[in-house]
Amino acid sequence: MTLTVTPSGMACGAEVRGLDLSQPVSAELAAEIRNIWLAHQVICFPEQDLSDDDLERFTLAFGPFGDDPFIAPIPGRKHIIAVKRAADETSPIFAESWHSDWSFQEKPPQGTCLYGITIPPEGGDTLFTNQYKALAEMPADLRRRIEGKKAIHSAKNAYSPKGMYGAGDKGRSMDIRASDEAEAAYAHPFIRTHPETGRKSLFGCAGYIVGVEGMDQQEAWDLVTEVYRWQTRPEFQYRHRWQKGMLLMWDNRCTLHMATGGYAGHDRLLHRTTIGTA
Ligand SMILES: [Fe+2]
Repeated sequence: MTLTVTPSGMACGAEVRGLDLSQPVSAELAAEIRNIWLAHQVICFPEQDLSDDDLERFTLAFGPFGDDPFIAPIPGRKHIIAVKRAADETSPIFAESWHSDWSFQEKPPQGTCLYGITIPPEGGDTLFTNQYKALAEMPADLRRRIEGKKAIHSAKNAYSPKGMYGAGDKGRSMDIRASDEAEAAYAHPFIRTHPETGRKSLFGCAGYIVGVEGMDQQEAWDLVTEVYRWQTRPEFQYRHRWQKGMLLMWDNRCTLHMATGGYAGHDRLLHRTTIGTA
């Protein structure tokens, strides 16, 4: 089987054609896909026709399932969540701010898979930003200020009862379960070495990052927001346009991503799994 890889031409991202993911993925093919993924950070497979079983099987070719808190899985599945929005929904767009999935966990997921089932004719692009590139091009004085420091990550601003998706979040079709468990925090270095590529990358951003170890809150927030402005600059971004039947997989260890709107009046449905860290 010959895979065709077409880079996006933007800061990361590539399209991969030449395979049918409704069929089992051999260890050899998984290794080939993994190499393409590590090189491009975000890869998409257009024109697939996948069942939930296929999505689960594909995910497990790359690692164990991740632990997905705060969002209930779809009925009958433990590891698939529905990212969905009804045509008439008026609540804020889900995940319309930069983040690395579940970065507040002790072992955040290495990757995320997202499969397009109902895709609006316009809008709903997913934006990514390349955090190898953001670090490599970061001004030396800003880099010096985060070198060796640990950022404190927490889901509290999103998923605690007082958070964005907490008690005040009404009329949403996604099955989000806010919880006091979101108050927990975990520190990760701002700069991490990717365990597979050996390249240094920024990890996570303001949002799930809520502070810096050893710094008072105001000083920490000033630093975190300065880093945020740098790491989300347009020149580090890739804009992903969706099609029905497209599977996307991204590397949470070296990218950030965010959802966008622009499809009011249209239903949207994608199924998502996370690739955990073994
Ligand atoms: Fe996400």
